Amino acid sequence: MKVLGIETSCDETAAAVVEDGRRILSNIVASQFDLHRPFGGVVPEVAARAHAEHITAVIDEAMAAAACSPRDIDAVSAVNRPGLIGALLVGVAAAKALAIAWGKPLLGMDHIHGHVYASTLAGFTVFPHISLIVSGGHTCLYRVGGPLEFTVLGQTADDAAGEAFDKVAKMLELGFPGGPALGKLAEQAPAEARGLFKHLAGRPAGSPGDPADRPTDLDFSFSGLKTAVYYHLRGTTRGRGPLREITETERAAVAASFQEAACEIMVNKTLAACRREKIGAAAVGGGVACNKRLREMLKERAALEKPEIQVFFPPPALCTDNAAMNAGLAYHRLARGEADGLDLDADPTPKRQFRV
Ligand code: KG4
Ligand code: ZN
Repeated sequence: MKVLGIETSCDETAAAVVEDGRRILSNIVASQFDLHRPFGGVVPEVAARAHAEHITAVIDEAMAAAACSPRDIDAVSAVNRPGLIGALLVGVAAAKALAIAWGKPLLGMDHIHGHVYASTLAGFTVFPHISLIVSGGHTCLYRVGGPLEFTVLGQTADDAAGEAFDKVAKMLELGFPGGPALGKLAEQAPAEARGLFKHLAGRPAGSPGDPADRPTDLDFSFSGLKTAVYYHLRGTTRGRGPLREITETERAAVAASFQEAACEIMVNKTLAACRREKIGAAAVGGGVACNKRLREMLKERAALEKPEIQVFFPPPALCTDNAAMNAGLAYHRLARGEADGLDLDADPTPKRQFRV
């Protein structure tokens, strides 16, 4: 069964054709980075307009690259939650129009569940596993029992991981989007210069009393770390004022130290979730999963666990926003005989199940 998937939840206009939830026949992503760069962040109205402008061409390209005609498609899926309302509406409207015109079932999909499924789409089929989703808008730990079985174990109390990377990158004048640029700058700092914010990285996995059976221990917080970077760059712990001049060496040390502490937090929570749930496998998704240091640190630490924890990262193109992940996941709903009605609505902030 082939599903045409559509993704417009934030600043990427994307469409993909995926067969049987596994085989990616096409995966087209039109990024809007250049449109938002002058503003230093995503402007919702600009994003929605750009989606409306590009969605038809992106869908045409995905169909052509998959060598599919409408006859070959079994269902149309679109991310309808969570995301920017104007942006989501464009994808949902496009999917409805195609579902009506082609006489195919319509499926509304959760963007974060799509990020979780990216690992399975990339070949990781171990269940249950722990999934860490770290993107620009979300930070979440799930217990994943099957492609459609998710239990939230922890989430962020404040900033999302990617948001923290982007904001620190902005303080370091690294442009937009800042996460990848921060990762590159951090590589220039030697290992001994990466400990400026070590005290904010939380307990290492496996330290006494960790993991606690207190569920909140699997929640995340990045705002304290972000604020610590801000005051470090200001050179004072009080009030407002200009950031001080710093050398290139110091900039790299700040980037690397922030990255190190943020990765420690993500790695510690993920391994703590594995131990608490007695699950020996973890996968990571979302844009921050592209981060090299996160990949390296989680693999190193997971190998030290007893028994060793298996770790999986999808290729970067399936970590950042794309439509293949929701088209792949939609297949599993379709196989269960599920479909949504034409009254499917966009839901920018769905109520999430709270941690167990
Ligand atoms: O999953 P995604 O493409 O979009 C959302 O659903 O938000 O994630 C985008 C986020 C941005 O905050 C971006 O800076 C971050 O992922 N990101 C990175 C890296 N590549 C993307 N953060 C750190 N290191 C990277 N290499
Ligand atoms: Zn995303």
